Amino acid sequence: MSRKLIIAANWKMNKGPAETEAFLEKFLAAAADLTDQADLIIAPNNLSIPTASALINDVNPSVGLAAQTVSENDNGAFTGETSTDMLKELFVNYVIIGHSERRSIYGETNAQINAKLKKALAADITPLFCIGETLAEREGGQLETVLGSQIKEGLEGISDISNVVIAYEPVWAIGTGVTATAEQAQDTHKFCRSVIEDLYGADAAAAVRIQYGGSVKGANSAELLGQPDIDGALVGGAALEADSFLELIRNAVA
Ligand code: 13P
Repeated sequence: MSRKLIIAANWKMNKGPAETEAFLEKFLAAAADLTDQADLIIAPNNLSIPTASALINDVNPSVGLAAQTVSENDNGAFTGETSTDMLKELFVNYVIIGHSERRSIYGETNAQINAKLKKALAADITPLFCIGETLAEREGGQLETVLGSQIKEGLEGISDISNVVIAYEPVWAIGTGVTATAEQAQDTHKFCRSVIEDLYGADAAAAVRIQYGGSVKGANSAELLGQPDIDGALVGGAALEADSFLELIRNAVA
């Protein structure tokens, strides 16, 4: 089963509308040659989504647009939150759910992440469903237990995962410059795929795309994304400049 690469830029709390426009003017034209080979996605801050949406629709609608989180509720008294309907109105077609920063800083639980995944899927927005262990958990021999329960509890009650992308991001590799080795990442991706196989069967496991995230850059994207079970990347720091993000993508698809 061949799985199309999927490479996403998670800008986190960086870039307002002006910087978003400057990045996309450079990136979208250059990305035209690359979207056949990989699904490319930009996840700006919510305030920059309208700017990104307009430019993507004008210049290169094959580039995906993601939010960095979404509410598990439809509308109402949820100060600060954003609904799937609001995202749809701006042509957002992906959403990052369960990023480790949302889990650790804002206390998102597997149950809440499950509710957000269901809400995104009901709105036909593809979730990039993030999982990952801390260094203490890995060193304490809990890697498989932690990832297994994040996957099982996150996907509970979801019968069809054909529109779910998984993003494995070891917490210790995020923003640290320390990447998992290609072998560590491949082994962990293979384990995650085996959990999906237990839950959904061999065909679903062979089809599901699993991104790696954590200090991916131009110098390591080819090796990491060349692993058999690594189907893309979720990129923070190296996706803040159009040139470095393009280099990362070009090296990965080469
Ligand atoms: P870095 O690429 O900066 O390590 O961030 C990874 C990440 O958290 C993407 O969601």
